[in-house]
Amino acid sequence: MRTSVGIVGAGPAGLMLGHLLHLAGIDSIIIENRPEDYVIERVRAGVLEQSTVDLMVESGVGSRLQREGMFHDGIYLNVFGKRRRIDMAELTGRRITVYGQNEVVKDLIAARRSTGRPLLFEVSGVQVHDLDSELPKINFAKDDSEYEIRCDFIAGCDGFHGICRDSIPSNQIQIYERVYPFGWLGILANAAPSSPELVYSLHERGFALFSMRSNAVTRLYLQCAPDEDISNWSDDRIWNELLTRLKCDDGWKPNVGPITQKGVTGMRSFVAEPMRFGRMFLAGDAAHIVPPTGAKGLNLAMADIWRLSRAMNRFYESGCVKLLDRYSEECLRRVWRAQHFSWWMTSMLHRPETGNAFDFRRQCAELEYVTNSHAAKTSLAENYVGLPFDEADAGEPLISMKETHL
Ligand code: FAD
Ligand code: PHB
Repeated sequence: MRTSVGIVGAGPAGLMLGHLLHLAGIDSIIIENRPEDYVIERVRAGVLEQSTVDLMVESGVGSRLQREGMFHDGIYLNVFGKRRRIDMAELTGRRITVYGQNEVVKDLIAARRSTGRPLLFEVSGVQVHDLDSELPKINFAKDDSEYEIRCDFIAGCDGFHGICRDSIPSNQIQIYERVYPFGWLGILANAAPSSPELVYSLHERGFALFSMRSNAVTRLYLQCAPDEDISNWSDDRIWNELLTRLKCDDGWKPNVGPITQKGVTGMRSFVAEPMRFGRMFLAGDAAHIVPPTGAKGLNLAMADIWRLSRAMNRFYESGCVKLLDRYSEECLRRVWRAQHFSWWMTSMLHRPETGNAFDFRRQCAELEYVTNSHAAKTSLAENYVGLPFDEADAGEPLISMKETHL
């Protein structure tokens, strides 16, 4: 098989890249090792930045999102029972949209299908080769047959556990990582959301988050141990803990209903630099992971893809490689901004297992500041709603990437 761009992974990053390349008249083959149902049903992100929404709408895959998405102007911080609202629309003129990642994926799969371009699920044994040549290759098996895709470029959109990043020689890539001493236990419940906006809560028993997926479905999370055994959590125990940590002195609490899905996720910050080796480009979770407290992962993946599709488009239009050469460095400026924000939200809102009294007082002072100061609220809001994809890197960098290598 021969194509322009071989895309490994049909998560939001791989599917959006295939879609934007199609709009530019560039052919691609997308391969995915999981079944289609699994990719669609996997419950993950829920908060879309305005730039992600704009990208979907402007590229013609946003009509259901515009009908069914829940537009939120603010979020609440519930600190030891006292609830304060951060009015993001007033502070920044931008807002967020709650629309499940699985709905995004469903819409992108439908768009891909309508083009007739290849999207292969349930492939196995995926390997990438000749990455620093003019003709990189992807090998895989499907239905007992072996295949090779020869392409101009490979896009490694295969998530954190994919094979693309690990195919880069270890002396050509630098890893930055922090693993947190806690995880999130997440549930979906058939219960109408009792607040029109998200509630991030810090309680003495730990963090909890109230979110939603529709007018009938609530999504909730609890801070837990990173290796928490979900079988120790009966539905009653989950609801007791959620109600304890989320309820507010003003009487607000989440509605309770049947739990339809539950799972535990560990939390980490991770960046692989550069996001390119030869003719293979990494995008999304394959290159970086953020703890979910800032709701940035899916949005960063979309920002990478916006940049990568633009750079590839420029190459096919004119042979110019300037944008491809700048891809990694430009993505990484936004990635590190989001890394800092996600780390900051996480450390401000979680209860460490073993506390240092100074650190706890400092955390309380931070929460006082962020809920009372207009400047601090604006900073939180600006980061949470996200900068436009093409403005995050406006201005000359203060510190060059080379200077920050230890
Ligand atoms: P993925 O979605 O991981 O897609 C990669 C794809 O590649 C997968 O389909 C995988 O099966 C496939 N693959 C892997 N290996 C191979 C292989 N060898 N061959 C072929 N295919 C392969 N982000 C937000 O922005 N907002 C949120 O509110 C938010 N909440 C989150 C809550 C939770 C509990 C979690 C876990 C994550 C959350 N995220 C959030 C993060 C977000 O889900 C990810 O950042 C997003 O899925 C990244 O998309 P991706 O396409 O890069 O990677
Ligand atoms: C979600 O709705 O799944 C969600 C919302 C906000 C976050 C993380 C996840 O910070």
